[in-house]
Amino acid sequence: MCFLAGISKGSTPQLFSLCLCLLLLARLSCADIGTASQYTDPYLPTACHGSNEAQFQSSELFGSAGEAIWDNGEACGRLYSVQCISASDPNTCIPDQIIHVRIVDRSLTSVSRPSREDAALVLSTTAFGIIANSSATFITIQFIRA
Ligand SMILES: *[C@@H]1O[C@H](CO)[C@@H](O)[C@H](O)[C@H]1NC(C)=O
Repeated sequence: MCFLAGISKGSTPQLFSLCLCLLLLARLSCADIGTASQYTDPYLPTACHGSNEAQFQSSELFGSAGEAIWDNGEACGRLYSVQCISASDPNTCIPDQIIHVRIVDRSLTSVSRPSREDAALVLSTTAFGIIANSSATFITIQFIRA
């Protein structure tokens, strides 16, 4: 919005604010776009913490990392903000829901298999169901490290 205001006015002071807006837009676009699928119980053992039940902190949402973000195990414990932005079936995304998920596993080796193997992020059924219709196999997400 500020971008359009800068263009329509067009004088030099506005050019400065236009540049500022472009910088802000560039920052916002640091979020990645990718695919999320889901996986179900059993979640243990995981590639990050084995069979330790304490890795699922109460009220915390979790998921497993696709190869794109697994980062040779560095992904373990990272938090991601995730939002559903589109899906093949209309009305699959639940609007305005943003969740934070902690990475506890690697989807390549997780005990229960993801509903889609090549997803960037595989969400627990609870996490998936907060941002999308849980009957979906996969969705397109915007995600960023929190
Ligand atoms: C979820 O998707 C299924 C299959 O497309 C559909 O039958 C169901 O009505 C949807 N549920 C909601 C709450 O939209």
